[in-house]
Amino acid sequence: MHLDFGTGDGAFALRRARSEPSTLVIGVDASAEGLREPSRKAAGKPARGGLANVLFGLLPLERAPGELVGLVDALTVLLPWGSLLRAVALPEAEGLARLRGLCKPGASLQVVFGYGPGDPLAVQALPGLQGEVRAAGLVQAYAAAGFEVTARSVGREEVGELPTTWAKKLAYSNNEREFVALTGVTR
Ligand SMILES: C[S@@+](CC[C@H](N)C(=O)[O-])C[C@H]1O[C@@H](n2cnc3c(N)ncnc32)[C@H](O)[C@@H]1O
Repeated sequence: MHLDFGTGDGAFALRRARSEPSTLVIGVDASAEGLREPSRKAAGKPARGGLANVLFGLLPLERAPGELVGLVDALTVLLPWGSLLRAVALPEAEGLARLRGLCKPGASLQVVFGYGPGDPLAVQALPGLQGEVRAAGLVQAYAAAGFEVTARSVGREEVGELPTTWAKKLAYSNNEREFVALTGVTR
């Protein structure tokens, strides 16, 4: 099962489900608003974009893993904001533990996050640290939470290629922004 955490309008989950018909894809978010349209679309007839292998649900990180404990083979967290961004970017041990709780051993993880120079997050997380030192800190914190990851800076072009709605918005906005990608597996 592939879980897209902080799925927003579900575009990534729908696309993934379409390209991998034998994988169950679940998109969850703290906000129900964006989930109505993809849920409606998925429940429709196949000729109208309906898909039998995708589900959407309300699940704030603060209540995870809930019923999804230990069920996830592939976890994505793409361009989060708010408390989900803080959890993956600072990172916060409790939030990472909640994400780890969702996953099977050996599950894959892909996290991509971005922040601007004026964001409170940038000040808290990166007080004058160079990229490599920051990446090493992230890798260590994720390891303590049970994820073996590599961390790297990514450019706008690469972010723009991610098939999500916010990837396009953020990659092509004029605001200065740095992006970081973490990929790996759970132990
Ligand atoms: C910028 S949108 C990105 C949506 C989608 N991943 C995309 O790339 O288009 C950030 C999403 O993170 C969700 N989010 C923020 N805090 C969250 C939390 N604590 N738990 C779950 N989702 C959260 C928001 O509701 C929002 O849908």
